[in-house]
Amino acid sequence: MKLKLAILPGDGIGPEIIEQAMKAVTVIAEKFNHDLSYEYGLTGATAIDQVGDPYPDSTHSLCMNSDAVLFGAIGDPKFDNNPKATVRPEQGLLAMRKKLGLYANIRPVTTFQSLLHKSPLRRELIEGADFLCIRELTGGIYFGEKGRKDNGNTAYDTNTYTREEIVRILKLAYEFAGKRRKKLTVVDKANVLESSRLWREVAQEMAVNYPDIKTEYMFVDNAAMQIIQWPRNFDVMVTENMFGDILTDEASVITGSLGLLPSASIGIHTSVFEPIHGSYPQAAGKDIANPVATILSAAMMFEYAFNLQEEAKAIRDAVTASMEQGFVTEDIADGQAYKTSEAGNWIADYIEKH
Ligand code: IPM
Ligand code: MG
Repeated sequence: MKLKLAILPGDGIGPEIIEQAMKAVTVIAEKFNHDLSYEYGLTGATAIDQVGDPYPDSTHSLCMNSDAVLFGAIGDPKFDNNPKATVRPEQGLLAMRKKLGLYANIRPVTTFQSLLHKSPLRRELIEGADFLCIRELTGGIYFGEKGRKDNGNTAYDTNTYTREEIVRILKLAYEFAGKRRKKLTVVDKANVLESSRLWREVAQEMAVNYPDIKTEYMFVDNAAMQIIQWPRNFDVMVTENMFGDILTDEASVITGSLGLLPSASIGIHTSVFEPIHGSYPQAAGKDIANPVATILSAAMMFEYAFNLQEEAKAIRDAVTASMEQGFVTEDIADGQAYKTSEAGNWIADYIEKH
């Protein structure tokens, strides 16, 4: 199969972790006889420094003309403490999501048997946890009207959702729930927010069309508690942009490290595959970051963008083996910790030999 990829390493640890994922992708392409081609694009702070725009047109056309996008991370501390910066790396990520129409971000949360002791949560609570968080990605407070008034002394961000936006994300969530354990948890704050009441109204209307799926409604504060108290009770969870951002960082503690969770952003144009973690600037260039979230994002790419299940499984099996055999980075190591590049090489080697 022809696999034409856009590779956007971005900032911080982005380039290092993307390099490891590309080792796995290259080996898979050779092993399964795919015609792989790829091109790198600029994004984030790196793109601001070079061309003054965190998601330049050239990067957008590269994405539009590719079959899938593999994305590293963006963000740079020099912008974080400067609320007056007029252009920020994160705007690049948001522009990419919006322009590619990536309205759904799929974040699977699962545990690895050999890492159960790495979670700050007790083994008996998390063992067997396996759920999918579906985060709406192109609406809500991230994209609503925002601004300042009263000479800059009042600031506002508006949380806006249309019925169409809610219907399309819920439809997708129901499809996923139908293929899994047939339970959908709709997370909102309908006791306070009008936008959440529309979400719940739409969900209640749609639920009757999916009689084999159990629809459950949960307020986001309660969901934040239940995710770490009874993670096994969730199958598919669907929620708005900001709640999904927060809940999935929280959910990563179940797995044991933020460096393990992959994601797929899908929608109207080319899909993007990216780790849920950020650019981890303190580790940039040190060869210590965990490449697994990005490597597993590449596995999601084979699954979602190309429907190549065997290829996806080969990557996941290699990652599981690296954990069982202890070829892991410092965030999850018990004894000796390996470098980012060593873990990446080990995983690519394993794929080649199995
Ligand atoms: C994520 C990140 C981004 C978000 C940031 C970097 C803008 O936290 O993908 O979860 O808030 O969506
Ligand atoms: Mg986030």
